[in-house]
Amino acid sequence: MEPMTGPIKWGLAGTGGIVTSFARDFAHVADGEIVAVGSRSADSANAFAAEHGIGTAHGSYEALAADPNVDVVYVGGIHPVHAPQTVMFLDAGKHVLVEKPIALNAAQADDMIAAATANDRFLMEALWTRFNPAHVEVMARIHDGAIGEVRRIQGDFSFALPHDPGHRLLDRAKGGGGLLDLGIYPLTMAWWTLGEPETIHVVGRVGETGVDDEVTLLCGWPGGAAATLTASLRVGGTMTARIEGLEGAAEFGFPGHATTTVTLRQGRETETIEGEPAGLHHQVAEVHRCLRAGVRESVRMPWATSRAMMHRFDQIRAELGATYDVD
Ligand SMILES: NC(=O)c1ccc[n+]([C@@H]2O[C@H](COP(=O)([O-])OP(=O)(O)OC[C@H]3O[C@@H](n4cnc5c(N)ncnc54)[C@H](OP(=O)(O)O)[C@@H]3O)[C@@H](O)[C@H]2O)c1
Repeated sequence: MEPMTGPIKWGLAGTGGIVTSFARDFAHVADGEIVAVGSRSADSANAFAAEHGIGTAHGSYEALAADPNVDVVYVGGIHPVHAPQTVMFLDAGKHVLVEKPIALNAAQADDMIAAATANDRFLMEALWTRFNPAHVEVMARIHDGAIGEVRRIQGDFSFALPHDPGHRLLDRAKGGGGLLDLGIYPLTMAWWTLGEPETIHVVGRVGETGVDDEVTLLCGWPGGAAATLTASLRVGGTMTARIEGLEGAAEFGFPGHATTTVTLRQGRETETIEGEPAGLHHQVAEVHRCLRAGVRESVRMPWATSRAMMHRFDQIRAELGATYDVD
């Protein structure tokens, strides 16, 4: 892959909630520009382009893929479109940043990675927690031994969603379910700290709409370190994370996946770490760094991690009895 120079030109795939946040946070990006947006509907694309000052609106995702002005596409649609759209954009020669979860299952993730490899294009899962300044600083300090040997982790991402079967989180056809949408955050915190768990015990349920709406994971690592991770669409939770070691602890305030404030206790000393505000632009900086270095994947969110997480999600969903049509 040739290293890129000059301003990097983005296309947005989708006009929903997260794409709106992405366009807003892109104001913090100095060396790139959003040049196009694509949608299933020309009206949506036109309205989005007008609101965000984007030059070109495409009334289909295929038209966005064919836009010669676009270097890299942000895939921000619902989970079932992540894999097919990503492969389409990669095959069209675009680089891709795709929202979390990278796919619905590991087989789809494999197809996406194969397409990035075959086309010699960049691909990364947009797991923004891994790029938030407070998280990056505290994780580096934990890995440097700031709290001693890590023994226990707690993480939660839960809220009581009003019962609306058409909501994408409850609609199986739209890739609904708490595990892939919410559980991915506490699992990311644990994985980032200790690597892939050796064992995962699963408790949870599939609700009336056929998607998992409550899940608790008890993860274990060699030597007995453990994480208790919860995600729910029915119960309001703390939405925080806590990492405990033999010499201290780190407490990630609400919301744990995007906080700017972390309390670090080392022995009897307590320090409050205030990071720069979280946002979707920090991961854009990593995409640009990789494109300018001419590398196809980020060492901070590598393909192997995205793939291994999907593989564990496949196993967890099989235990819960939560399936998608593509399985
Ligand atoms: N990083 C984060 O903090 C964060 C937060 C929220 C969501 N997300 C992720 O972002 C993704 C979208 O979530 P959202 O909350 O933005 O959803 P949303 O507001 O319901 O928007 C749905 C999105 O999917 C697109 N889409 C494409 N094909 C579709 C289809 N066949 N049916 C329905 N929609 C289709 C829509 O674009 P058009 O209608 O223009 O085609 C729109 O961009 C999910 O994967 C989610 O995990 C991430």
